[in-house]
Amino acid sequence: MKVTLITTVLAALVSTAAAEPTLVKRANPQGIDVSHYQGAVNFKTAKANGIAFAYIKATEGTTFIDPEFNTNYVAATNAGIIRGGYHFAHPDSSSGATQANYFLAHGGGWSADGITLPGALDIEYNPNGATCYGLSASAMVSWIKDFSNTYHSKTGVYPVIYTTTDWWKTCTGNSAAFGSTNPLWIARYASSIGTLPAGWSYTTFWQYANSGSNPGDQDLFNGSLDGLKRLATAA
Ligand SMILES: *[C@@H]1O[C@H](CO)[C@@H](O)[C@H](O)[C@H]1NC(C)=O
Repeated sequence: MKVTLITTVLAALVSTAAAEPTLVKRANPQGIDVSHYQGAVNFKTAKANGIAFAYIKATEGTTFIDPEFNTNYVAATNAGIIRGGYHFAHPDSSSGATQANYFLAHGGGWSADGITLPGALDIEYNPNGATCYGLSASAMVSWIKDFSNTYHSKTGVYPVIYTTTDWWKTCTGNSAAFGSTNPLWIARYASSIGTLPAGWSYTTFWQYANSGSNPGDQDLFNGSLDGLKRLATAA
């Protein structure tokens, strides 16, 4: 039922950007995800516009620290936005453990303070080469496990996995190995979320557009504001 509701409301949202229904805001906390491409984001304005949470890019591989991360993380915190960091994976350049530790050392940490979301692993199409970074499906699954287990052993929570169903099918062989541990964040710019990857029966986050009335990509939390706070509280 919730799916139908979200679908219907989102269809309206996508087709008439001006008339944003308040139902979405009440039923499903809205969020954004940003990186240095958005510069220093005005999170106070975003909060006033109804944004409840944000993912902020922290790191990429082991060679890139987002230059706006600190500014944006502090600004989101000061605006009362529930926030977390994300890491853009380069599974071809070093191990999952190495990249998890790099992420943890540069903003990706977690604490049960009610305002910090589990760090997210952004694992998706290689921007500069082979879609699956030259890894076999089994090597890719091992890489993700290494990242995920390392993150879990250091923080007590499993990282959120951000991906698309298409990439996950193509590059992990549609692995069902993470559905019972890692919250899912699916990118799909459409009026419905479509088929989910194997292992997950529901999604936790949905990135439904790459632009909107607030800076960055546009996201929904699949649940209530209390549910969002629980994700920022419970290990
Ligand atoms: C949202 O979560 C509920 C379970 O809490 C699930 O039944 C529903 O399918 C989810 N929606 C999506 C789009 O995954």
